[in-house]
Amino acid sequence: MNSHRNWTRITPADNIPPREGRAVKIGDLEIAVFNINGRFLTIENACPHKGGPLCDGIVTGTAVVCPLHGRHFDLETGMPVRAAEPSCLAVFPTCVENGVVMVDLEAGHRTLESDAA
Ligand code: FES
Repeated sequence: MNSHRNWTRITPADNIPPREGRAVKIGDLEIAVFNINGRFLTIENACPHKGGPLCDGIVTGTAVVCPLHGRHFDLETGMPVRAAEPSCLAVFPTCVENGVVMVDLEAGHRTLESDAA
């Protein structure tokens, strides 16, 4: 099913309670993995405003609220929900196999990448 992906094992799914996020550092990359009531979504952890740790933000729907200054980011697209600014975050394909959260770190992408070129 997911054989074309380059999955990296992140953590047992039970380690991330519903409606919470956890930060994971892999090399220079820090991601935040969220459990949206059994659906797992992964986004860059550092807020593009001033680097707030999004893993510690409050989840509302499929968005997270930055704990520092309250900007909202959509966990599915990485786009800011309310701010009228072009900055967005990379999101990463995520799945659960045999109870383990898996993320394709090489397939992370930003929605506005093509617009910024
Ligand atoms: S650091 Fe996230 S809103 Fe300011």
